[in-house]
Amino acid sequence: MDIFELIPKRRAVFPPQFNDRPIAKTDLEKVLEAANWAPTHRRTEPWRFKVLQGDSKTRLGEFLSTKYQETDPRPKQIKIKKLQENPQRSATVIAICMQRDPQERLPEWEEVAATAMAVQNMWLCCTAMGIGSYWSSPGLIRYMDEFFALNEGERCLGFFYMGYYDEEPPLVERGAVSEKVRWLD
Ligand SMILES: Cc1cc2nc3c(=O)[nH]c(=O)nc-3n(C[C@H](O)[C@H](O)[C@H](O)COP(=O)(O)O)c2cc1C
Repeated sequence: MDIFELIPKRRAVFPPQFNDRPIAKTDLEKVLEAANWAPTHRRTEPWRFKVLQGDSKTRLGEFLSTKYQETDPRPKQIKIKKLQENPQRSATVIAICMQRDPQERLPEWEEVAATAMAVQNMWLCCTAMGIGSYWSSPGLIRYMDEFFALNEGERCLGFFYMGYYDEEPPLVERGAVSEKVRWLD
């Protein structure tokens, strides 16, 4: 597909829309390989991914819903359920992590930006492959070192929920780009 057609077709597709079809490991590897080609200042390649399948998705859902109940003074039933169910509803969840350069040769935002570009590569590949996906960034990601035992300087930036889906996601709009651009001579 032409890249100019693909980009506006990319949508956030959420776990309640996913069906039961699993994603082949070879397809996950293709998506991850595309992520690895993101641009990277000083070639730090800061993106790190944890691929959760099978029971690990259930454990993630339990961890998130338990942590939410422990840390929120007024936890809402609907959110407890959502945190528990979203990983299980997904064929695969990829935790999006960023490894800070040990020598801090560049500001952290550049490593977050490079990781986000890796995620965009994954998201576009998913679109091309008919896989629904979206980046979720709950406040609970600050506790993910308790779940994954992250390396020194490694930070979780969210979860990339993935699954096949049956119904086309609703069309979305964007404000005119002309309102966000200033041309200079
Ligand atoms: C860094 C980042 C974090 C996001 N976190 C969330 C989130 O926590 N919850 C959510 O519903 N959507 C999240 N999204 C997805 C947006 O909701 C979605 O991209 C937006 O609604 C625009 O829709 P579209 O992606 O279909 O164009 C996130 C997107 C980005 C780029």
